[in-house]
Amino acid sequence: MKFYSDILGLIGNTPLVKINQLTSQHKIKAQVFAKMESLNPGYSVKDRIGISMIEAAEKDGTLKPGGTIIEATSGNTGIGLALAAAVKGYKCIFALTDKVSVEKLRYLKSVGADIVVCPSAANHGTPDHYVETAKRIASEMPNSFYPNQYSHPANPLAHYRTTGPEIWNDTDGRITHFVSGIGTGGTISGTGRYLKEKNPNIQIIGADPYGSIFKTYKESGHVPEATPYLVEGIGQSHPVGNANMKIIDEIINITDRESFEFARQLSRVEGVFCGGSTGTNFAAALKVAKNLDESGLIVFIVCDTGEHYLTKFHSDEWMKEKLLLEPQKITAGLITETKNSGAPKEVISVAPDDIVGDALARMTENSVTQIPVLEDYRSVGSLKESRVLTKLLENRDLLNAKVSEVMDKSFPVLDVDASFNEIKAQLQKSPAVLIEDFKRITGIITRTDILDL
Ligand SMILES: Cc1ncc(COP(=O)(O)O)c(C=O)c1O
Repeated sequence: MKFYSDILGLIGNTPLVKINQLTSQHKIKAQVFAKMESLNPGYSVKDRIGISMIEAAEKDGTLKPGGTIIEATSGNTGIGLALAAAVKGYKCIFALTDKVSVEKLRYLKSVGADIVVCPSAANHGTPDHYVETAKRIASEMPNSFYPNQYSHPANPLAHYRTTGPEIWNDTDGRITHFVSGIGTGGTISGTGRYLKEKNPNIQIIGADPYGSIFKTYKESGHVPEATPYLVEGIGQSHPVGNANMKIIDEIINITDRESFEFARQLSRVEGVFCGGSTGTNFAAALKVAKNLDESGLIVFIVCDTGEHYLTKFHSDEWMKEKLLLEPQKITAGLITETKNSGAPKEVISVAPDDIVGDALARMTENSVTQIPVLEDYRSVGSLKESRVLTKLLENRDLLNAKVSEVMDKSFPVLDVDASFNEIKAQLQKSPAVLIEDFKRITGIITRTDILDL
């Protein structure tokens, strides 16, 4: 029989996958490989440290049978710890911030963990901060173990013992650059140390979100004030013990827009379905690769799976809300679906047989100055308040006439899949465009609706 004695046997030995189309699109001569940590059983690089910190604590007696593991996590370490805890019979409590995706929260609950959500706005060192919260719970709970992934030596050690050798062996020692984000710093410090020991010329590159402190800290020793960013799991507002700046040769800052765009492209173009921090790593890898010739061989970490972010950056609606969506993905359907969230979705309209006075009242009631005239979900004309009022000044009796007698021609009609450029072109000529799906008018886009895109 061929089987693993438990799920933990699946951790590690993740493959390298060559990136093809995206590198040729960017005219890259070097080879770029994705280290597929998303293929671990908890779908992230953090499975490696979950079991490694637990086994270290069992060995030194900090974790005893029936114990509870308490940790501050952006989700993935929690998942790694919870898998190992399930197999080994421990309980888990995790403190997370409200920035963590709902997918990761539900995942943690599904694998048996209790979770405490803390405000992401809480400053480091204050009682509400997620790290302080985890520490407090651990200090109050008997027979508990607080791994503290930010300083636990078993975190970088797991990567020194496994991730580093795997990359070295799978590239036959030909790797020239290793690119990783820095959250706790475990991945980059452990893997980097191993690779540098094998060949000190290998460049260790940190990919860091704009807003995080690591680049300035590495380059000047000064800790700048951190500013918010959206990518999860990497970057910090303060230095952390496991992030060994001496191992890192260079840190490259990446914007949220680049991170998400590259993570989405990796998924769409290469089929590497990944999280946002993988996009950060790939964006940095491409920047490095631009200056290399054919002898360059870059490995970047695919930190986790895209499944954790289906309601976040893998959703066009979320990307549009954050003003991050690529222009070519903004369609008429997406604009109508996401505008005025919470407002009724049906198109406010009048019928050709409606009375003009009632139509004007409807417009006032809904605070609109133009309205489509629809019959059987098809557009037959439009009313513009100012033009109707001008006609009424000439002939007051029109107030009791039918809409069809005073209406103007229909607003232009576009399909739900129409592009942002097509919409813009129509809105230069008309104050509104109607959106059609399966020959029915389903939405309206006005000039103000596209102002914030
Ligand atoms: C999604 C994601 N990417 C990257 C990292 C960074 O890894 P490390 O903590 O080893 O620096 C983390 C860590 O929490 C993470 O959750």
